[in-house]
Amino acid sequence: MERSLYERLGGIDSITAVVEDFRDRVAADDRINKKFARTDLVRLRKMLIDQVCEATGGPCKYSGRSMKAAHEGMEVTSGEFDALVQDLVATFDHFKVGQKEQGEVLAVLGPLKTDIVELDSSQVGTPLPAAYQAAPALAR
Ligand code: HEM
Repeated sequence: MERSLYERLGGIDSITAVVEDFRDRVAADDRINKKFARTDLVRLRKMLIDQVCEATGGPCKYSGRSMKAAHEGMEVTSGEFDALVQDLVATFDHFKVGQKEQGEVLAVLGPLKTDIVELDSSQVGTPLPAAYQAAPALAR
């Protein structure tokens, strides 16, 4: 049988490196970084690592909010969703992740779009609504 996607990505160390590079690209991307104005980035890093690890067949357990709850009231546009996917592909290319593995990760993430995008618009760089409730910071 084929190895799990988790193993083919290189396991937890590779996924951690991917998430950190991706987080830095998002932070530098004016098309989407306003949405993270009140986000606890330590929590986000952990949640993304656990989510990708679990979704690809690794030994982690995601403990964060559902994709619908986490992005509710954030007013993410489809243009912003696409911008985030472009940043992720740039990260994959940077680490020379194979086209097959990239496609498999994007196939897992694609269906989440309907839970995340609230505005069918190509606009990018839109602000985080004041009413948005950010997740509590992780205890540290
Ligand atoms: C497939 C695409 C996406 C995935 C898999 C994803 C995944 C996640 C995860 C796992 C969290 C952590 C939830 C928690 O802490 O409980 C999160 C939070 C967040 N996401 Fe996404 N996300 C996606 C798309 C987007 C897009 C397009 C934007 C905005 C442009 C966005 C903005 C945010 C922000 C700002 C937070 C932090 C929320 C807070 O402050 O509590 N996400 N996302």
